[in-house]
Amino acid sequence: MKNAYERLVRPVLFAIDPESAHHLAIGSLRIASGVDLALRLLRCFHPAPNPKRLFGLDFLNPIGLAAGLDKNGLALPAWAAMGFGFIEIGTITAKPQPGNPKPRIFRFPEQHALINRLGFNNDGADVIAGRLRVLKQSERWPRAPVGINIGKSRVTELKDATADYLYSFRTLREFADYVVLNVSSPNTPGLRDLQSADALSELLVAIARENLKPSKPIMVKIAPDLSPQQLEQIISVCETNGVAGIIATNTTLDHSSIPREQDQQGGLSGAPLREKSTGLVRQIVSRSKIPVIASGGIMDGNSAREKIEAGAQLVQIYTGLIYRGPGLLREIAAALT
Ligand SMILES: Cc1cc2nc3c(=O)[nH]c(=O)nc-3n(C[C@H](O)[C@H](O)[C@H](O)COP(=O)(O)O)c2cc1C
Repeated sequence: MKNAYERLVRPVLFAIDPESAHHLAIGSLRIASGVDLALRLLRCFHPAPNPKRLFGLDFLNPIGLAAGLDKNGLALPAWAAMGFGFIEIGTITAKPQPGNPKPRIFRFPEQHALINRLGFNNDGADVIAGRLRVLKQSERWPRAPVGINIGKSRVTELKDATADYLYSFRTLREFADYVVLNVSSPNTPGLRDLQSADALSELLVAIARENLKPSKPIMVKIAPDLSPQQLEQIISVCETNGVAGIIATNTTLDHSSIPREQDQQGGLSGAPLREKSTGLVRQIVSRSKIPVIASGGIMDGNSAREKIEAGAQLVQIYTGLIYRGPGLLREIAAALT
């Protein structure tokens, strides 16, 4: 049976193009973030508490907002009011950038999927740090842990990637409960090459050198399209460099679930990503003690439980929220208790 969002809100949002719908939703949540009554109303989606302590942080429940939905950190109080156990903003780059030409988000309702090639459109580390500073001084900073996901600016050459990440890290770390190094988006040319052992090592060593007290847990977000050998190398580099957690996974380049004539360039998310992504969670957990945060194709309670049964400690949702709405939080929470 469809929930109220699926019956009433989704048809309106899906009648407009995906990026306008996104701006409408984020714009509304940004306004709601400054209005007590609106925040109180959003609390009707709040799932029952299911606290978990991990990385030295207190998660209110194991369900997080995945990176990309609130790249600019515009609506933190609203996500917290809705009941997310943790909230990840970004991907943020050192320099502000417009992203790829539009259109760049595509819906595939039959497959419960999205393809995006946004290319890290964001306000840049400085502007976002200013925004977060103001919020932090207010009473509206969330109680839930806030993760900050950083990536490479498009104009920065791959050989200078480390310096670019370091700039964002220095600028944003004070606002982060944990920091995610995104080396897996398919929409910034060359970015995924940073998953190679040498490049990832260089980046992690440099970040560790800057990660002085109070040090922040560092996570690495990986692609689902890795060979077992590549994954093995990433895990061992992460272990050597004291990475706190692995986020598995980002979007996939495997578009085999999408009819050829409708296909688009970009990263595929949602239901068709689920199995592949869960497979990676299983591989990591079978091989390492590094905690895994699962992201990829969590569209209902069962798919969330699948990730936890595969060994993930926490889950994150993006495409599921677009298709199922905020009621998905309670559905997942119920499935995980
Ligand atoms: C439109 C869109 C934009 C995204 N932007 C980012 C991003 O900026 N950084 C990132 O790490 N992941 C980004 N993601 C990936 C999601 O965080 C998530 O890992 C992925 O979509 C798989 O989860 P899902 O199937 O629940 O959507 C994006 C996903 C979508 C659909």
